[in-house]
Amino acid sequence: MPPTPAQLDHATATTPIISLEGVSKSFGDVRALHEVTIQIPPGKTTVVLGPSGCGKSVMLKHIIGLLKPDAGTVTFDGQRVDRLREHDLNDIRTRVGFLFQQGALFDSMTVGQNIGFPLREHSELSFQERKLRVDRMLEIVGVPGTADRMPAELSGGQQKRVALARAVILEPDVVLYDEPTTGLDPIRSDIIARLIQRLQARLSLTSVVVTHDITTAFKIADTMVMMQNGHVLLSGPPSNFKSSDNDVIRRFLDGDAGPDELDLLDPPEDSLAKDNHS
Ligand SMILES: Nc1ncnc2c1ncn2[C@@H]1O[C@H](COP(=O)(O)OP(=O)(O)O)[C@@H](O)[C@H]1O
Ligand SMILES: [Mg+2]
Repeated sequence: MPPTPAQLDHATATTPIISLEGVSKSFGDVRALHEVTIQIPPGKTTVVLGPSGCGKSVMLKHIIGLLKPDAGTVTFDGQRVDRLREHDLNDIRTRVGFLFQQGALFDSMTVGQNIGFPLREHSELSFQERKLRVDRMLEIVGVPGTADRMPAELSGGQQKRVALARAVILEPDVVLYDEPTTGLDPIRSDIIARLIQRLQARLSLTSVVVTHDITTAFKIADTMVMMQNGHVLLSGPPSNFKSSDNDVIRRFLDGDAGPDELDLLDPPEDSLAKDNHS
């Protein structure tokens, strides 16, 4: 059988811009990552899926050197991130935008000051140039004219867009999005998914999107990684996930709790009896 376009795409993929090889990380007794190997192709969107606590955020933090592995290597564009000193990490951090899970904006700064913050820290642009860049970015993310507002005056969805704008204002090569649609309704989530695609195309970004929102995942993914209990269960084109007969993957995609999760719901007999009489 001839290979499908997706398989060909993977077979001919260029050198990854980011790679984790055999990365392990523990916090005390908690094994957050166990021999994780992930390769992120440049110019594409990689979606990382997996249940809460499986190590997704910890994995992202290794890419920008916020965490160091106990074992294994992390490479960004040929540089060993896990070996860099704090000072040399700055260079990587200007090339990688990060939308944190608690994508909090600074409450005491205006929207414009929030987005302009990385420019003040990392560029030589004048006030006027920064203002122009901020205004243009606000248009791109669909909240034009909000530069002088305070974050608290915006809706949750608008705040996410501003956080997105701040993550990409330095026109990085890579953007890491940690659960960008969490807490948003399906329509607002769709808007964020489309924005991620738009930014990807406009700025020729490499995107890594951590999510447990399956709809968003299939909308934007060129390639997918599924994690469970700190290790990689499956990675490859989205079609591999749709056709997977792995029970854990099927149940995750279908939002179907397994026997282990359901056991936790089973109340002891006497507590049920009490409920019946109240
Ligand atoms: N700084 C930390 N200190 C101790 N434990 C941590 C720390 N960061 C993450 N963990 C633990 O590591 C595991 C993976 O966490 P995380 O990557 O945040 O999961 P998620 O997939 O939900 O993003 C969890 O058990 C979490 O409690
Ligand atoms: Mg997380």
